[in-house]
Amino acid sequence: MLSKNIEKALNDQIKIEAESSQIYLAMACWAEVKGLEGVAGFMYDQSNEERDHMLKLIKFVNERGGHAQISELAAPNVTFTSFKEMFEKLFDHEVFVSNSINELVHISLQEKDYATHNFLQWYVSEQIEEEAMARTILDKINLIGDDKGGLYLFDRDIQQISISTASTENPQ
Ligand SMILES: [Fe+2]
Ligand SMILES: [Fe+2]
Repeated sequence: MLSKNIEKALNDQIKIEAESSQIYLAMACWAEVKGLEGVAGFMYDQSNEERDHMLKLIKFVNERGGHAQISELAAPNVTFTSFKEMFEKLFDHEVFVSNSINELVHISLQEKDYATHNFLQWYVSEQIEEEAMARTILDKINLIGDDKGGLYLFDRDIQQISISTASTENPQ
């Protein structure tokens, strides 16, 4: 059974994951209209993953005797000055989410809620992966700079980053 405090904290995280999904959906749209289909596909996948993170939390809250709240979301940024700026925002956002997960873990320990603590370990690992992926992408973007040819190749290769991350997430 969840305490009111934990339920509230988990519901706040549900909102953050929903907003993450919207933020990345807006990035996907911007990349798509700019003609970078690889980047757009990558961002659509990220958006879906964030929705999955949200759903996993929703199920947990409802199964543990709480009531998952579906709330109004903040409108995401829909345009960017460059792809570099877009990926910087993605990286910063993942760091923000990691901090939020860490805070949740802290609260679960304070409340001695070991079931929630155990559940949250998946999110801790996921954030390590997502931050690493965002950093890898940012490093590549910084190498490319303003080179159009480099951006073309990056757009082609980002699908590979997508595939390799997906396959490390689902080892079968
Ligand atoms: Fe997430
Ligand atoms: Fe994420």
